[in-house]
Amino acid sequence: MILEEIAKRKSGRAYDHDRPVSDEMIRSIIEAGRLAPSCANTQAWDFVVIRDPAIREKADEALTGGNYWAKRAPVMIFVVTHPKDGCSVHGLNYFMMDVGLAVENMLIQAVHLGLMGHPTAGWNEDKLKEIAGIPHDHKIATVVFFGYEYQGEPTFLSDKHQAIEREGSQRKEVSEVLHWNHW
Ligand SMILES: Cc1cc2nc3c(=O)[nH]c(=O)nc-3n(C[C@H](O)[C@H](O)[C@H](O)COP(=O)(O)O)c2cc1C
Repeated sequence: MILEEIAKRKSGRAYDHDRPVSDEMIRSIIEAGRLAPSCANTQAWDFVVIRDPAIREKADEALTGGNYWAKRAPVMIFVVTHPKDGCSVHGLNYFMMDVGLAVENMLIQAVHLGLMGHPTAGWNEDKLKEIAGIPHDHKIATVVFFGYEYQGEPTFLSDKHQAIEREGSQRKEVSEVLHWNHW
């Protein structure tokens, strides 16, 4: 009963850097993000697609060491949000939820296209903002990588990451998180 794209989606780290991704595919991934719902339709998001190799090289240098694997992904997209334009209700500002909905749409669309997407938080935001000329009052909510999954043995990954590729990620049991009628 689960959509195939949802079941297949994973934040894999084994990217095939020799297999390019077309601009048409990237546009469809952005379109999927743009169609996401947002609180009061605020749409407080922008997408910065890094395609220029010189800019990409600089952006790769701003990744944390643990995100070394991302350098092999052909596509890097900054999902940028504007906190002041978000919708504030119940003491919560919904801009991060809105961006999260957009990102999940993008990840699912990528699976639909036969690609793999991986959202990240491990990078130096100030450096990325400077590299891409992002306004000071905006925030990079996440940097998402896209590309085809490498089909061979991913020996270019650390032992830890190779093990995660083999084992897949785990989830809490439904009984731990599902409440019917009462907490
Ligand atoms: C907001 C966010 C930030 C993340 N940051 C990183 C990151 O910096 N590096 C990384 O390897 N994975 C990162 N991940 C991926 C998560 O580790 C991954 O989604 C989680 O382990 C569940 O695995 P799955 O997506 O394969 O189901 C991030 C995920 C999200 C949603």
